[in-house]
Amino acid sequence: MYHQILQQLTMAAQDKAPVSGYTHNFYRYPARFSPAFASSAIRLFSKPGDVVLDPYMGGGTTVVESLLAGRFAIGSDLNSLAVFVTKVKTTRLDSSEKDVLRRWAEQKIPQLKYNLPISCLFDEPYDNQTKNMNVPRARFIKKIIGTGLDTTNNLPTDKARDFARCAILKTTQWALDGRKTHVSLSQYRLKLQEHILQMLEQLDTFIKKVTTQCTRFPHPILLESNASQIDTMPPFSTDNIKAELVVTSPPYPGLHILYHRWQVNGRRETPAPYWITGCQDGQGDSYYNFGSRHQPGHNTYFDTSLLTLQAIRNVLRPGAYMVQLLAFSDPQNQLPRYLANMETAGFKEVNFKEQDNISCDKRIWRDVPSRKWHAMLKGKTSGSKEVVLIHKAL
Ligand SMILES: C[S@@+](CC[C@H](N)C(=O)[O-])C[C@H]1O[C@@H](n2cnc3c(N)ncnc32)[C@H](O)[C@@H]1O
Repeated sequence: MYHQILQQLTMAAQDKAPVSGYTHNFYRYPARFSPAFASSAIRLFSKPGDVVLDPYMGGGTTVVESLLAGRFAIGSDLNSLAVFVTKVKTTRLDSSEKDVLRRWAEQKIPQLKYNLPISCLFDEPYDNQTKNMNVPRARFIKKIIGTGLDTTNNLPTDKARDFARCAILKTTQWALDGRKTHVSLSQYRLKLQEHILQMLEQLDTFIKKVTTQCTRFPHPILLESNASQIDTMPPFSTDNIKAELVVTSPPYPGLHILYHRWQVNGRRETPAPYWITGCQDGQGDSYYNFGSRHQPGHNTYFDTSLLTLQAIRNVLRPGAYMVQLLAFSDPQNQLPRYLANMETAGFKEVNFKEQDNISCDKRIWRDVPSRKWHAMLKGKTSGSKEVVLIHKAL
């Protein structure tokens, strides 16, 4: 029994196929995990109707897969961009909204030019929000985005406007983030049009699949919260709701990931994702990574991690599973510290080897497919492996 579980999860964790399907590709959220991994963990460790929580939901992989598996989903992240993207991926549009968005794609997008009057370019905080978008490759894209965002003001509902902004986000990430070659105006317009139509189809497929399991489309609960305060947030604080499973991937010690910036022209960073989506940016990268990566010993990381784990434990039923995917810049020292935090917070690691006398390493390790944050590793390369940790709440 345990052997089979381990085998299934190992295969899913080692899945290196490009992320695709349903609404998963609405945005390439940095360090997202594979939907196959989330789906296996959800199906192996919970049953239909259970509450599945991801307190560091990022691009919402766990939330999307929980809904597809007929579970009740709660997702939370302190990054407003993560909440925006997950919301668009899981929000049903009615047929008039879909018609308007199709017309927007077919009629308005081909007319986008970069010399039209752009009202949003004159907003007060505009300069900060588009920092580093004046380099040659990005400057004209900035103007197209401006005109594109202007046209979204005429869309009839917030849901339709958010969907349109998400399509602009996806297309601009394609055109700018880490890209070495120039994208022309006509290529940008064509790609944006293609993305909108594709995303509408993918959302339809997702909604149809989710509603085959229940008569009413179950909306997830999405919170913008620091995980260390999740137990003070409704519905946990108000309705005594407890989760039966956590499937998640917290920030990694010693490995800083750019969750909140795109890189334009080499290493210049832009906060443009927040401008495009109308979201509030947090602070520096330490805000999104449990502290500064330059701190010797990463004490802030481990202190913050403990606070978050204690709050997460408070919103779980005793016996609930917590399945995490993690990487470490220095696994030998950091993994034991992380495990000690888990124990202090009230979790016990599930030791499959003891339970089923199986002859393999009790933890699942996987090689990480090429990821941008590897470029940010200084010296050590051990962060190129991720580990799956499986715990039970005591
Ligand atoms: C590795 S990513 C999660 C990716 C996600 N599994 C996916 O598939 O897209 C980690 C996330 O933790 C969030 N995060 C960092 N510190 C946090 C905190 N204290 N509370 C809540 N979320 C936090 C980051 O904003 C980031 O979105």
